[in-house]
Amino acid sequence: MSAPRGHFPENFIWGAATAAHQVEGNNVNSDSWMLERLHPSLFREPSGDGVDQYHRFADDMAIVSGLGLGAYRFSIEWARIEPEEGSFSQAALDHYQRCIDHCRERGIRPMLTFHHFTLPIWQARLGGFTDPDFADRFARYCEHAAKRLAGFDLACTINELNLPLFVRDGSLRRLQRGRGPERIAAAAAALGGSVDHFFLFTPAEAIRDQGLAAHARGRDAIKSAHPHCQVGVTLALQDEQAEAGAEPLRDQRRNDYYGVCLDGVAGDDFIGVQNYSRVVSKRDGSTGPEEGHRLTMMGYEDRPQALAETCRFAWERTKTPIIVTENGWAGDDDRRRSEFIVEALSNLHGAIVDGVDVRGYFYWSLLDNFEWVVGYGPRFGLIGVDRGTMRRAIKRSATQLGEIARANGFSEEQTDASAAAKADTSGAPVGL
Ligand code: BGC
Repeated sequence: MSAPRGHFPENFIWGAATAAHQVEGNNVNSDSWMLERLHPSLFREPSGDGVDQYHRFADDMAIVSGLGLGAYRFSIEWARIEPEEGSFSQAALDHYQRCIDHCRERGIRPMLTFHHFTLPIWQARLGGFTDPDFADRFARYCEHAAKRLAGFDLACTINELNLPLFVRDGSLRRLQRGRGPERIAAAAAALGGSVDHFFLFTPAEAIRDQGLAAHARGRDAIKSAHPHCQVGVTLALQDEQAEAGAEPLRDQRRNDYYGVCLDGVAGDDFIGVQNYSRVVSKRDGSTGPEEGHRLTMMGYEDRPQALAETCRFAWERTKTPIIVTENGWAGDDDRRRSEFIVEALSNLHGAIVDGVDVRGYFYWSLLDNFEWVVGYGPRFGLIGVDRGTMRRAIKRSATQLGEIARANGFSEEQTDASAAAKADTSGAPVGL
């Protein structure tokens, strides 16, 4: 490999991320598990054994350290730790302590997420985030878990706290068609009366009130057990752009979907930026990918530059340090995934040079995994999994990210490849 060019700041964190429900398997006390098994269901298929990370954590960490990644973001599962209200499982906590230990034995810095979309069934039935006592119950769980777990100094309270602000209404509208209403009715019945109890469908007021309060209370609980731990929330941030004349729509979206949460967490140790693409507001009032642009397997515009733009926006608005806690590309063309990563990182490097305080990058996802309502279809992983045998297959994009991590920057070939790719797609003003 040639000499690295484009160095990242000293101590930059390089890692990959997952979430418990998407990889562990058999998360039987969670609301998602329950909803996946309904007939009809909002989910395309059940999560089942996941990719069995519950039993393969140590092996997966051996792969992560072999690649050269220095950090791993994973979530601890509330539904396992507190399967019934007020009754905590020490065995589940012991499991997560072993996970932390496996990371550290391999020189991997663990980053723990305390809530990644799923709730214990009992909390969902109490109203999920709409429960007026949600912040108290979440803080109690965080306090209990944080006091008993040792050996971590990076934590996220809630994953993508703002996601329901832009997912809920559109999803519920789409579900008015076909068997949608039956699916909603089945989910609502299982959740104790309303789909609002499922995180993705949480109404905006509950995110603003209980959600932000739960983050603050959870953060304080974690920090009181681990005073040196850096704690933040993660937010789903799309790069919002506008055709000429559609700026007011773009600004409205920025305010409604991101503003309240960004302002609510400014001043935390860090903000976890999670970005996958951009959204262009159009003069006719619609939004969508630019026409003719290639899409990822998730149907998002394939736009690696969006990450840096999003970090610039979050930094300008909050002046709070950023860790990129998720960024990734779904599809089977691993060559494109590799290019995507280099393009995203080289633009991110540009933002850092311009003064944006970005302290780390976690690729989503370490493994191909359970992509929520769309099941195992979309593949984001640096590592493929044969779900018949659970065998892992390391993709080229994984070794490439490991090389970048080890060098804390790019080789000349990588920079040149990304410059060529950028000359192709980036920088064009939107919709002119
Ligand atoms: C979530 C992940 C999800 C990823 C890709 C993020 O919204 O945090 O759980 O798999 O995006 O869709």
